[in-house]
Amino acid sequence: FPRKDWSGRRVLISAGPTQEAIDPVRFISNRSSGKMGYALAEAARMRGAEVVLVSGPTALPAPTGVDYCPVTTAEEMRKALLSRFTWSDTVIMAAAVADFRPAHPSQHKLKKRHHPITQLDLTPTDDILQELGERRTTQVLVGFAAETEDLLAHAREKLHAKHVDLLVANDVSAAGSGFGSDTNRVVLLAADGEAEELPLLPKRDVADRILDRILTVPTARRTT
Ligand code: PMT
Repeated sequence: FPRKDWSGRRVLISAGPTQEAIDPVRFISNRSSGKMGYALAEAARMRGAEVVLVSGPTALPAPTGVDYCPVTTAEEMRKALLSRFTWSDTVIMAAAVADFRPAHPSQHKLKKRHHPITQLDLTPTDDILQELGERRTTQVLVGFAAETEDLLAHAREKLHAKHVDLLVANDVSAAGSGFGSDTNRVVLLAADGEAEELPLLPKRDVADRILDRILTVPTARRTT
């Protein structure tokens, strides 16, 4: 890749799902494959950035040339990201972090006969992006929004609520877009209100377009 326009930048990227234990053999999770976040990590590295990739469980090989940090739960992902936050100048949250986890995970496998699981008590996880938004100093903060209806309205709410510079909105119910696919169709929403709609593209190309857009955000900018 001829362009080294990310040289000197330190990028923290999250990818994949998180898994929240019900018992030692069962968990709740989501359909994220990690492809979008890994594509971002690869693109940023190819363009010269130092990259830390914090990834939930995926079937993808760890990308070469990046500092790879595998995690399982939302809380592990939170800790991994917070511990590298001050190092970074850019954070991109492509992970699909679980919003809820079982409130009382069992230490032992729940037996179908003795403890049939007919209901689960859930408790909210911490919102990592929100926390980073509150703690940020000079970092550029980029979030994703996975929506199935009213894409732009919901994405705009998240852009402001989470104090991010850029929100990548994807309609995850559209064909060829969102979870699991090799392609994605996204709208880039900037804090200044500008919206850039991209066509359906391979995730690797979407990644480059996101990185292009981030370069236009001043690094010392604070939205809080
Ligand atoms: O992994 P792939 O199969 O390639 O699919 C890509 C993707 C659909 C997962 C990706 O493009 C995407 O949309 N990622 C964000 C999914 C998501 O959790 O969206 P959300 O609208 O629920 O969350 C909004 C933002 O807050 C996200 O940046 C998310 O990382 C962050 N978040 C959410 C919950 C939480 N507890 N902590 C967070 O930081």
